Amino acid sequence: MGKRTVILGTQWGDEGKGKVVDLLTQNVAAVVRFQGGHNAGHTLIINDNKTILRLIPSGILHEGVMNLIGNGVVLSPEALIEEITELKVRGVPVEERLRISPVCNLVLPYHVAIDQAREKMRGEDAIGTTGRGIGPAYEDKVARRNLRAIDLFHPKQMADKLKTLADYHNFQLVNYYETSPIPFEQVHEQLIQMGEKITPLITDITVLLAEFYNQDDNILFEGAQGSLLDIDIGTYPYVTSSNTTAGAVACGTGFGPKYLDEILGVTKAYITRVGAGPFPTELQNEIGRYMAKKGKEFGSVTGRARRCGWFDVVLLRRSIQANSLTGLIITKLDVLDELETIRICTGYHHAGEILETLPFDSNVLKECEPIYEDLPGWQQSTYGLTDYKQLPDNARAYISRIEALAGLPIVMLSTGPQRQETIIL
Ligand code: IMP
Repeated sequence: MGKRTVILGTQWGDEGKGKVVDLLTQNVAAVVRFQGGHNAGHTLIINDNKTILRLIPSGILHEGVMNLIGNGVVLSPEALIEEITELKVRGVPVEERLRISPVCNLVLPYHVAIDQAREKMRGEDAIGTTGRGIGPAYEDKVARRNLRAIDLFHPKQMADKLKTLADYHNFQLVNYYETSPIPFEQVHEQLIQMGEKITPLITDITVLLAEFYNQDDNILFEGAQGSLLDIDIGTYPYVTSSNTTAGAVACGTGFGPKYLDEILGVTKAYITRVGAGPFPTELQNEIGRYMAKKGKEFGSVTGRARRCGWFDVVLLRRSIQANSLTGLIITKLDVLDELETIRICTGYHHAGEILETLPFDSNVLKECEPIYEDLPGWQQSTYGLTDYKQLPDNARAYISRIEALAGLPIVMLSTGPQRQETIIL
């Protein structure tokens, strides 16, 4: 029986989804992105070769697997071509394995300029976006004025739409953000050139998915960012501009929710966050710095240092419910190897009350004090282990405690960046 599986992050992104998707890709017909854009950074390490994918699905290194970019993704033609070129230099036959929905909205240089100008103007209140133009591209989508991949087939229509967009955004750039305009002619010329490379990859992926489904093939849907960065369910306004939770699979691909069989949440054995926003279990101390160093917690897209903290079940509960998770995958367990005591946050103190549910109001979340359960560390290496029985008792106790608090089975543990450094349960 074929399985349609969703893999997504339960935290604020960077949970290690790329490795998991790559590993589970051995037996699938297709890997599908359904939201986000090149703000994502999925790192794959295979035979010591590191590949960072931003836009292209993580199945691209596998022969015989189709990689589909769904309509929910915002597509930067420039970033796409850059990534295709990088992969082709490495000998990956990208064109054979990649297809793009005709109704993906485009990320244009105007969106990038507005994203960056806006963050600068916000000053101390900046969101800490990746500066890739993601938010402004989704704004134009919802305002029903953006260019879509399909427009690349119709030069006249594309030029007219682009002119209107250019006038609109340049007016803002000059008069509101007091920065330089981007000439329409420049963007138009680039789009015509890039369109020639991209149009052969455009096809109705909703139809392709239906075909795979009818043949009873396995399909993997690959989430980007994390559930708490969801524009609706996440820690607004410190979120990304797409829905990152499981419901987005259906609207981001045209593959209905009843066709999905499994929804797996990837979670680090601790928590990280890039950019601004509340983070109750954040450790601004020696232990936080140890986690950052040992876990190499620097953004794969922007190189920014990630904030680190203890595992937080309150956040996890929201993710479990919002995504209807069927199982958990824990990554980077080995990062905790040297710690004497390991803490799990099970609730928050706020204004004399105990909260077990994540408050939607980010101002309230900022004031929450975590309530911890302490577990003894294992203080020996778990790096690269492949068998659950090899894990130290205290590491197993930590995993079991998370499993019990989550009320969900842990189906996989990642003990290192390489494909084989994995324990399948
Ligand atoms: P944007 O998606 O560039 O608009 O950024 C909005 C917020 O989402 C910022 O806090 C970013 O750091 C965060 N973000 C976006 N993409 C990722 C990701 O792939 N991993 C982690 N954080 C991300």
